[in-house]
Amino acid sequence: MTVVGVLTAGGDCPGLNAVIRAVTARIEGGHGSEVVGILDGWEGLMTGRVRPLRRDDVRGILGRGGTVLGTSRMDPYVHGDGYASVRGTLEAHGIDVVVVVGGDGTLRTARRLAEEGLPVVGVPKTIDNDIPGTDLCFGFDTAVQVATDAIDRLVTTAESHNRVVVVEVMGRTRGWIATYAGIAGGADAILIPEVPYDLDEVAEILRSRQRRGIRYSIVVVAEGIPPPPGSRATTRPRDVFGFERLGGVAYDVAAALEERTGFETRVTVLGHLQRGGSPTAFDRVLATRMGVHAADLAAAGETSTMVALRGDEIVAVPLDRVDDEPRRVPFDRYDVARTFFD
Ligand code: F6P
Repeated sequence: MTVVGVLTAGGDCPGLNAVIRAVTARIEGGHGSEVVGILDGWEGLMTGRVRPLRRDDVRGILGRGGTVLGTSRMDPYVHGDGYASVRGTLEAHGIDVVVVVGGDGTLRTARRLAEEGLPVVGVPKTIDNDIPGTDLCFGFDTAVQVATDAIDRLVTTAESHNRVVVVEVMGRTRGWIATYAGIAGGADAILIPEVPYDLDEVAEILRSRQRRGIRYSIVVVAEGIPPPPGSRATTRPRDVFGFERLGGVAYDVAAALEERTGFETRVTVLGHLQRGGSPTAFDRVLATRMGVHAADLAAAGETSTMVALRGDEIVAVPLDRVDDEPRRVPFDRYDVARTFFD
């Protein structure tokens, strides 16, 4: 009988529990095999912390944020010696294949382990929606909903006070959350890493709105845009996957806009609010479909693969697709948002 391990690694994201539930139910009920949950991501695989997962263990978690298995930034290639540091746990618990739910850093580690012999099926997750090979990642819809709700609220307070509000959203080096939440919230300007920006043009939009008697403006800023010229220099720490820890560029954008316009400006950095809490119905369904498909691939021995959404279908793509560059927001999508920068 095949024993399937499942782990969640890297930053958390709404929908992880839906995947864990789906893998467990499909493996136990659909394939009559066993699942073991690996705790705290790669750390559990390196230190032998695993527990059996039965269908009854995963009841009631579909709508819960976070991950019941825990997660960490521990990595077998940074904190251990690769495959050798996980082999002991695999052998001790008879784990035949591991379903790895993670972002691009985690999936790249999974790809390296697969090259060394670990049978792996990847499930892409991130609120940033930038993993290559899949049209969408679960977690993104929830993050966009949280950011949109925030923008709706900021509009009413900005209007009451005749202010500009600069809202910073996550997304790392890509502007998916900014573009989608900006469209959904009716932003008056959106700055994303994929499109060079000019703060003089943004300032002119804000002035023009004031001239027309519109008492507020909302500027959505993706955390990964380059800081405006003349901003305070920052050296940012990096995580174990080499990613910069971002956050705070909205303060520089707000200062530069206030200086140009003289309008009273406030900043809201949404941060981890976008990652916590219950997944939307859309993310629950997407995560469940991906989990079921990953379980089927694992049971069939179709490893070194990653599940992906293509159009409306869940498919398997080679795990090495994760080495492609992070998916950019296509310009036509940004162009839709730009229509309303007035
Ligand atoms: O990749 C998801 C993400 O939430 C990014 O949008 C953000 O830059 C980063 O993770 C934050 O990571 P951490 O939880 O380590 O602060």
